[in-house]
Amino acid sequence: MDRAVVVVAAGSGTRLGIGTAKAFVPVAGQLMLARALEPLFSSSSPTLVVVVAPSALLEDCRRVVATAAGAAVAYTAVVPGGTDRHGSVQAGLAVLPDSVTAVLVHDAARCLTPAAQFDRVFDAVASGAGAGYVPALPVTDTIKRVAGDVVVETVDRSALVGVQTPQGFPLDALRRAYAASTQSETDDAGVFQAAGGTVRSVPGDADAFKITTPWDLGRAESIVRSRAS
Ligand code: C5P
Repeated sequence: MDRAVVVVAAGSGTRLGIGTAKAFVPVAGQLMLARALEPLFSSSSPTLVVVVAPSALLEDCRRVVATAAGAAVAYTAVVPGGTDRHGSVQAGLAVLPDSVTAVLVHDAARCLTPAAQFDRVFDAVASGAGAGYVPALPVTDTIKRVAGDVVVETVDRSALVGVQTPQGFPLDALRRAYAASTQSETDDAGVFQAAGGTVRSVPGDADAFKITTPWDLGRAESIVRSRAS
């Protein structure tokens, strides 16, 4: 199996409010993108890595990727992103060689995702007979459906999960799904499912949360510090 990971890192990070593209914000002294790439280049299985970056930061991104790859023998590419995540994923998928059979799509903003989560998703795709796989965690809050500020009902949370990345798929099927997509889906599994694909879940990890707000950034920094101590 030829494996690849598309890391989407072209978001602006407006909600973080730092004025720098989110993947280029430091998390406890190391760029978010560099942290996100760490588990990919330490993997013992050869993995192609494509990073989708803001077009104004392609050269900076190439430097980050080269440093993260170090001595690892890997095919890497850095390509400019789209105006939304959907377009950025398509830009990444477009440059993968057809020899790739399994592709994972990962948010750079989930920069503390452990290597084991990538392995779980790759292993599932390898044995999955064409299905797509998402890491998922049970929902712990009580969830309500609302209309404006009126609470309409409590939703049965036992049937709900929160999903993370990386999400994994057979490459040819994911490319076909994106080509047919209406862009209304909010994740890769949604695109895959809208095109008729089956999606299953594997266990997620609390550390794979997405950094969106300043609070998330502070949480990531305290996790990094606690790992170091
Ligand atoms: O904005 P949000 O954090 O939900 O984006 C999820 C991921 O998609 C991030 O890693 C971000 O860099 C990426 N993204 C992208 N291109 C865009 C918008 C978001 O690569 N145009």
